Amino acid sequence: MDRFVVRGGAALNGTVRVSGAKNSALKLVAAALLAPGRTVVRNVPAIGDMGAMAEVLRHLGVRVDEQPETQTLDVPDTIGCEAPPELVRRLRASIIVLGPILARCGRARMPLPGGCNLGSRGIDMHLAGLAQLGAEVTYANDYVEAVAPEGRLRGADLELAYASVGATENLLMAAVTANGTTRIRNAAREPEIADLAAMLSAMGARISGVGTPELRVEGVTALNPTEHEVVGDRIEAGTFAVAAAVTGGKVTITGVDPAHVGLPLDKLRQIGASVDAGAGRITVAGGHALRAVDVVTLPFPGFPTDMQPQFLVLLSQAVGPSMLTENVFEARFGFAEELARMGADITIEGHHAIVRGPTPLRGTDVRATDLRAGAALVVAGLIAEGETAVHDARHIDRGYADLAGKLRGLGADVRREATASVGAA
Ligand code: UD1
Repeated sequence: MDRFVVRGGAALNGTVRVSGAKNSALKLVAAALLAPGRTVVRNVPAIGDMGAMAEVLRHLGVRVDEQPETQTLDVPDTIGCEAPPELVRRLRASIIVLGPILARCGRARMPLPGGCNLGSRGIDMHLAGLAQLGAEVTYANDYVEAVAPEGRLRGADLELAYASVGATENLLMAAVTANGTTRIRNAAREPEIADLAAMLSAMGARISGVGTPELRVEGVTALNPTEHEVVGDRIEAGTFAVAAAVTGGKVTITGVDPAHVGLPLDKLRQIGASVDAGAGRITVAGGHALRAVDVVTLPFPGFPTDMQPQFLVLLSQAVGPSMLTENVFEARFGFAEELARMGADITIEGHHAIVRGPTPLRGTDVRATDLRAGAALVVAGLIAEGETAVHDARHIDRGYADLAGKLRGLGADVRREATASVGAA
């Protein structure tokens, strides 16, 4: 098992450019399935999940050329309609191919996806929406199968019970070539959805209401391939912002739209960091006493659940008690136990975490329980006394491109180590 080894103490200083957003890029390459021909996606992050998604697409017949930051996807006239079980179970985001496959083939079959360890992550809204678009959806032996009776979905009025990111994206991709008009009410408004809608529109889709809770899609008969650049990763940007504030350094983050990081930046200001945002860049400086604040996670434009673990680390250094309320995923405080082992004072009560600071952190062996928790533990290591080893580095590699290298560029003492497996032949 590989690990990140962090020696704490250095304040981060300098400039870092974030990569393209994982949560956008994964969907954009899936959207390529909707049009035969060559689609080029730029500003693709060099992360594990992109490689896994490329494998899924290859299995469906797409030729994927993975260059640094660019994926070229040659999509055949006829694509496979069944996603590969072993890959899908590894990557939850692969559920996103369901809508495009159904739209292209009139039929799709795939096993239930795996991915993060974040409690129950249902796909009921994805399936209910596809059924409303006319698909016959059946579920047996851990497989889901959807069939459009006449080979084409039909437009419908959909209302999501919750503004799910994945369901909004899947249904949007299913609807763009459906017969007639689709409305998706209570749609998610994350910037990654706007990015997907922009790419689909460039492919010839007719979508309006982007950025509002109601998307309207007028179905077209076919889409064209396109070229598209992935939006900057707001969660990666937020992670460096927290790292700057908590280490008392000063970091300029480029490659991201500050409007996409609105609430986390407001919270950073309330906590006592200084934040200066301009076009495509954010400068965050710490060094002042940090104040306790309460944080509540909600769908965009609310505070992102993907920034919750990093803020728990930050608030462990603020004076007084803070309450962090998790509303999006049910099991996202698993990593609080790891942070507590480094010295943080955290009490979990249902979906609330109460953290009392400031407490000095000390380096020890900890485990990345999921992607964002892993990154948060690396950030914790930056301020811990001595050395912190964050095991299960693969979780971090799934979503952060060269985290250790980027942190070293800002003056941190971080290295990524491969652990030799004992007894390996
Ligand atoms: C995406 C992001 C993830 C982020 C999350 C919320 C990707 C690859 N992942 O995940 O990083 O944390 O948005 O911003 O883009 N739910 C159901 N039934 C459904 C769909 C969702 O019960 O049919 C529940 C989930 O279990 C979860 C909540 O809704 O508790 C949020 O899920 P959703 O917004 O769909 O997140 P993802 O698309 O999985």
